[in-house]
Amino acid sequence: MKKKSSIINHQLSIRMLRVGVFDSGLGGLTIVKALTEVIKGAEIFYVADTKNAPYGEKTPEQILQYSLDVTRYLVEQHQIDGLIIACNTATSAAVKQIREAYSSLVVIGTEPGIKPAFEQTQTGKVGVLATPATLKGEKYQKLASDLSKKQEVTLFEQACPGLVEQIEKGEIDTEETRTMLENWLRPMRESDVDTIVLGCTHYPLVSEVIEHVMQRRLNLIHTGDAIAQYSLALSQEYGHLNEGDLDLKLYATGEISKESVKHIFGKVLKVETIVL
Ligand code: DGL
Repeated sequence: MKKKSSIINHQLSIRMLRVGVFDSGLGGLTIVKALTEVIKGAEIFYVADTKNAPYGEKTPEQILQYSLDVTRYLVEQHQIDGLIIACNTATSAAVKQIREAYSSLVVIGTEPGIKPAFEQTQTGKVGVLATPATLKGEKYQKLASDLSKKQEVTLFEQACPGLVEQIEKGEIDTEETRTMLENWLRPMRESDVDTIVLGCTHYPLVSEVIEHVMQRRLNLIHTGDAIAQYSLALSQEYGHLNEGDLDLKLYATGEISKESVKHIFGKVLKVETIVL
């Protein structure tokens, strides 16, 4: 930690902070959006690996390879100081190996917010929506089992295959998406679940539909703001002054819905296509 800090401290005294962020697609932009609200004087390079989306329905080996390929691109082409894995699925499959392969890089992962959900539930019933790979992953399994030993909470875990594709297609509030959510959420609605963890960074984009289907006031837990605050605090520890302009560059390895990007940021942003 000390060593990393002194290297980056020196770099940050001569240039802007460079942050790499990636996800399989649009989802990580929910975290970038939160970052742009708190981080200043930095360059953010975002890669949407849409050519390989959805990650959540691939094998752990495939997800690891995609994550390593994107990280290598960000390190070699953009000389990033820090990396935010804005994807629960990629964090589960690759954060350890990325940290080992790039020991001088500060790496922040994204994990389903089940700890705050356990703290905040009033009914003792918590829903978790995530990709199949995240729910099967060792990281999530361990977190859920450790927390369940300390506190009696009924967990409703639901994998949502196909939901990421719907969101990538811009099908946020369509009949098909609503029906999928209706089927997945019914057991939670009928069992007095009051807190739902959005364990995939794409899912905040359908939070209104989730609230509508649940037909109640709901505590939806997503991690964008917490990651943004943590990234700011950590970068300041490394000498980042948090002053000046913010430069955001977006890249995609395949198709991306420009409309959805516009919807998230409230303005048209250029997305450059890259080959990894
Ligand atoms: N947004 C990603 C996550 O947080 C996964 C999406 C996908 O399945 O590609 O897990």
